Amino acid sequence: MKLGVNIDHIAVLREARKVAQPDPLDALSICKRAGADQITIHLREDRRHIQDSDAINIINLSSLPINLECAISKEMIDIACKLKPHRVTLVPEKREEVTTEGGLAVEGDIDRLKEAIKRLQDEQIEVSLFIDVSMSAVDASIDLGVEWIEFHTGKYANIYAMLYANLAKSHHSIEELDLPRDELKKMLDCEIFNLRLLSCNAMQRGLRVASGHGLNMENIKDIVAIETIEEVNIGQSIVARAVYTGLEQAIIDMKSALIR
Ligand code: PXP
Repeated sequence: MKLGVNIDHIAVLREARKVAQPDPLDALSICKRAGADQITIHLREDRRHIQDSDAINIINLSSLPINLECAISKEMIDIACKLKPHRVTLVPEKREEVTTEGGLAVEGDIDRLKEAIKRLQDEQIEVSLFIDVSMSAVDASIDLGVEWIEFHTGKYANIYAMLYANLAKSHHSIEELDLPRDELKKMLDCEIFNLRLLSCNAMQRGLRVASGHGLNMENIKDIVAIETIEEVNIGQSIVARAVYTGLEQAIIDMKSALIR
């Protein structure tokens, strides 16, 4: 299974002090050496971590393909068309959210999506849509003619954390977290079942399938077992582990967890 390493969290650390280090650009050679297949960056509208200059340098200098995540706004599509990363993953963005909390409302945003996708594909940029684990979102993605979808695994990761990591409820927003363990286990099984079903369905209909959000060394095994998921994009847990192990080792560890 392929690994896209999301290096936004290196910039989060830098932006906490508004200084020059750590510079996500320095991570490129380490990611490559450690076996990463792709670099993922998210240029947010509020520029809270990755800056325009990071995006320019990373896209121009990386020897690994770059997957640029961005909102569907005209500003972002203009930037993407100019910088020409290998792939653009369109994501929903709300200013107040800590991270991307759900998938795109694909069916409710068809016109804007059509225009953005056409502009990107005209520049030979592959397009991926970050979507919830839902059949209607898969159907809409097929109608829109994108090459990739990325399933948002945040709900799966939250349920997994409540079930196995005994995390504080305050870290999570889903209501179901007060449920007993056997109910949580059923919900987890249901998430995995749906991911498996929809990934298979999407792949058979010609889409390439990625997934990401909240994945880590523990919860990744159920995702690896779904063979129709070709790629995962992982950021926070790799950078968090890197604090103790170093970035190279954290990526090597994750890559070995992805072996099928
Ligand atoms: N994929 C997409 C589309 C994302 O927006 C993000 C960040 O939310 C990730 C993957 C990586 O998520 P995480 O940092 O939780 O691993």
